[in-house]
Amino acid sequence: RGPQGLGRDLSGRHVVISAGGTREPLDPVRFLGNRSSGKQGYALARTAVARGARVTLVAGNSELPDPAGVDVVHIGTAVQLREAVLKAAADADAVVMAAAVADFRPAAYATGKIKKKDGQEPEPVALVRNPDILAEISADRPRPGQVIVGFAAETDDVLANGRAKLTRKGCDLLVVNEVGDHKAFGSAANEAVILAADGAETPVPYGPKEALSDRIWDLVAPRLTAP
Ligand code: CTP
Ligand code: CA
Repeated sequence: RGPQGLGRDLSGRHVVISAGGTREPLDPVRFLGNRSSGKQGYALARTAVARGARVTLVAGNSELPDPAGVDVVHIGTAVQLREAVLKAAADADAVVMAAAVADFRPAAYATGKIKKKDGQEPEPVALVRNPDILAEISADRPRPGQVIVGFAAETDDVLANGRAKLTRKGCDLLVVNEVGDHKAFGSAANEAVILAADGAETPVPYGPKEALSDRIWDLVAPRLTAP
């Protein structure tokens, strides 16, 4: 049974979850990346399976083992993540974007290793923007009526930034984490507020990422369209 007595409330549903972080290669040995461990996305995958869902996990550069009973698609870059999410989202009832997507990638990829040159300062690295997958699927839902969830890690004016981001992205729910010493990146525990497009705000106390995952599914399940 689900933690709120809802049982297998995702049974017969297909949910797509992105997790981990993207790596944007600069040359064969270097990349631009971030600190996402993948723990939150993997916890979402496990809890969705427990609630009866068929789960596709699009995983970027996480060291975690593939969760049992989950269809895992491993990706490297934001562009690859976009392709994998769009493909899996075509028949999905819900999409949760827990991945930390690099906002920018190097404008050019050097096919050979970039070497130091004697007495010379390095060239600046030119960057270009990556596609915003959450905004894209929210604006143009791969399947009508599907529920779309985003994440945001914020440091200042957490709620105001979160509200603005929810509106800007156009998703149904936005899970806002306050980034701090023992929260979010790399840790097993999390504290968050889940903002809904209809104005609802659900605070989730500090606790395991599984507990936050279950609160997210508690809010996704009633928003799903009739099967
Ligand atoms: N996201 C995405 N594609 C991107 C960047 C972010 O799909 N290119 C998704 C993330 O997976 C997350 C949400 O958007 O669910 C919010 O990510 P965040 O980095 O907080 O938002 P940004 O719009 O990139 O804003 P910021 O400038 O604060 O980084
Ligand atoms: Ca970003």
